Amino acid sequence: MTTVRLNSADPVSFDTDALIVGFRSGPEGPRPATGAETLDAAFDGKLAASLAAVGFTGKPGEIAKVPVFGAITAPLLVAVGLGESPDAEGLRRAAGTAVRSLAGTPRAALALPAASAEEVEAVALGALLGAYGYSRYRANGEPKEPVAELTVLSAEAAKATEHATERATVLAESVALVRDLVNTPPSDLWPAKFAEIAETTGTEAGLTVEVLDEKQLKDGGYGGLIGVGQGSANPPRLVRLSYTHPEAAKTLAFVGKGITFDSGGLSLKPAESMDWMKSDMGGAGAVLGALVGIARLGLPINAVGYLCLAENLPSGTAQRPSDVIHSYSGKTVEVLNTDAEGRLVLMDGIARAAEDAPDLIVDVATLTGAQIVALGWRTSAVMANDEAIRELVVEVAGAAGEGAWGMPLPEELRKGLDSPIADIANIPAERWGGMLSAGIFLQEFVPDGVRWAHIDMAGPAFNKGEPHGYTPKGGTGAITRTLIGLAERHASI
Ligand code: BES
Ligand code: MN
Ligand code: ZN
Repeated sequence: MTTVRLNSADPVSFDTDALIVGFRSGPEGPRPATGAETLDAAFDGKLAASLAAVGFTGKPGEIAKVPVFGAITAPLLVAVGLGESPDAEGLRRAAGTAVRSLAGTPRAALALPAASAEEVEAVALGALLGAYGYSRYRANGEPKEPVAELTVLSAEAAKATEHATERATVLAESVALVRDLVNTPPSDLWPAKFAEIAETTGTEAGLTVEVLDEKQLKDGGYGGLIGVGQGSANPPRLVRLSYTHPEAAKTLAFVGKGITFDSGGLSLKPAESMDWMKSDMGGAGAVLGALVGIARLGLPINAVGYLCLAENLPSGTAQRPSDVIHSYSGKTVEVLNTDAEGRLVLMDGIARAAEDAPDLIVDVATLTGAQIVALGWRTSAVMANDEAIRELVVEVAGAAGEGAWGMPLPEELRKGLDSPIADIANIPAERWGGMLSAGIFLQEFVPDGVRWAHIDMAGPAFNKGEPHGYTPKGGTGAITRTLIGLAERHASI
């Protein structure tokens, strides 16, 4: 695990293996950003011009590795672009891009704008998130080890900024936990195993953890979890994580979709849609990561998290299209497509979470391909039964740098979910607006008077493309920091 420290030393003489230096772009070419002033002098004022000569402009996403010819103590300088005026997310991304490029280097220091606690946290967090690698299944030592020791250089190093690096560490470790879970192949992460990990990690962080096994789920009336999980030799689990604080005035409930593998069931997916469905537990991952983070930060709030864990496989015991299941809420559901399974486990989780009388329920799920059609790979969709809550979730996600956009829940879509024999069908009569129909379906299981938001992160949970900023390939840990941010917004002091 990578560590981050704070130091007020001059970057010019700081002993490290690579010095990361921020540059801003502008009409006169790249110029050293705050925190990098002394470096320019160490290079006789020629650093910016030399960088410009190799094509570096200081735009976001750019990096240039330059030899130092003894001008500074570190043997390597990594210039990173910050754009014209970087915000917190700009700093996080720049730090992440630079640190990611240094995999295989033991130590790195960052001379980026870090004058306030907010900036120190952004630099530290981006750097830590960028220092992520998943090599558990590599025999040959590739990919290279992430940077192990990071130092944020800040002339303002003090108590408040020290706290910022601690907070960044908690956030980054929560995200890394989620990324590891998402990256784990389904042969090594089935519902009971996930529940076991939640038990260990949760208890260690100070959470109370309860696990319902398949028998308890059956006896308890959790027809959705049982129905989705019944085709697999690895039976379903429902995990309840809880955290309480003596000064808490509010209770938040998070519910995560935790399909450890989604083959589609008897409504089998085509091969090209299936090979990344180990990531279909990203919502449950985010809920676990958030609860662990909230507990470690000691936020003055009560929080409960539900992990709806099942494996969706076809077999002789699998549920069939046209089966009717009895949900935990008492409503019956006709399963017309076994690949619309996420909503079936969430309906039970949401109805159960409502019994905790929370001030707000937020569910998180890799729920629909339609989310990716609508908003692409990096923007999650937020739906809610309360406009102010929807906008709050969008705002908190935006502040965390996790793209999110508000979406409607058009009433007229409910009719499309009518079933000729049950209270509701699990898929709509027509495919258009599939992300919204899924939201409308879930809303049916939110009791009257309970505030609820739904986050569909089918695209953002897993990066099939190239790494960017602090985001690696594979599991991203998306929405984990948004949930922690929501808890902070609801904290009593
Ligand atoms: N897990 C998938 C959704 C998904 C798709 C997540 C792509 C991540 C990337 C979900 O269970 C699913 O299969 N949804 C179906 C619903 C349909 C049958 C109504 C879909 O979106 O195609
Ligand atoms: Mn599915
Ligand atoms: Zn799914």
